[in-house]
Amino acid sequence: MEKDCEVEVVMMYDKFEKNVEGVFFLKGKDFTNAGTASSELKTILGEIGINQSIIRRAAIAAFEAEMNVIIYTPAGMMHYSVTPEILKVVVEDMGPGIEDIELAMTEGYSTAPDYIREMGFGSGMGLPNIKKNTDEMKITSSPGEGTTLEFVINLKKE
Ligand SMILES: Nc1ncnc2c1ncn2[C@@H]1O[C@H](COP(=O)(O)OP(=O)(O)OP(=O)(O)O)[C@@H](O)[C@H]1O
Ligand SMILES: [Mg+2]
Repeated sequence: MEKDCEVEVVMMYDKFEKNVEGVFFLKGKDFTNAGTASSELKTILGEIGINQSIIRRAAIAAFEAEMNVIIYTPAGMMHYSVTPEILKVVVEDMGPGIEDIELAMTEGYSTAPDYIREMGFGSGMGLPNIKKNTDEMKITSSPGEGTTLEFVINLKKE
């Protein structure tokens, strides 16, 4: 039974025959719209027919990346592209950059100020969670300029 469902999803996807891509603009400190980009991405992946457990991983990773831009930067954008093989998300922001990426990746490390912690963020788990939920993750950053975070989730079973 389960196998039948999987086959159907793959067929729907092949029928699409096109790669899908798009971009969301993210505004720093815009807590009213925080989470919108990742939630729209989740909807789009659902419409394409991506498997639910992959959508769940993608939504977690995209949400954490989106929140970091909103909390720590003035602005950024999230670009996504889906091919039959992979989902790739690139989140670019306008600074301040990350000086020590290894430290930023450490579970529990956070520079979130108190008012951000009061909103429930700042556990220092966002970047480690992106790593856990994706197949590839890369951060490049120039302090003073900005950060680019890229992640890939494989859509084909190995
Ligand atoms: N885009 C970014 N620009 C600048 N600094 C960032 C960016 N993303 C993360 N950081 C830095 O890396 C730290 C760790 O980020 P991470 O997402 O893991 O945790 P957090 O945002 O502090 O807490 P949580 O994600 O659990 O709410 C942040 O506290 C911040 O100092
Ligand atoms: Mg975070």
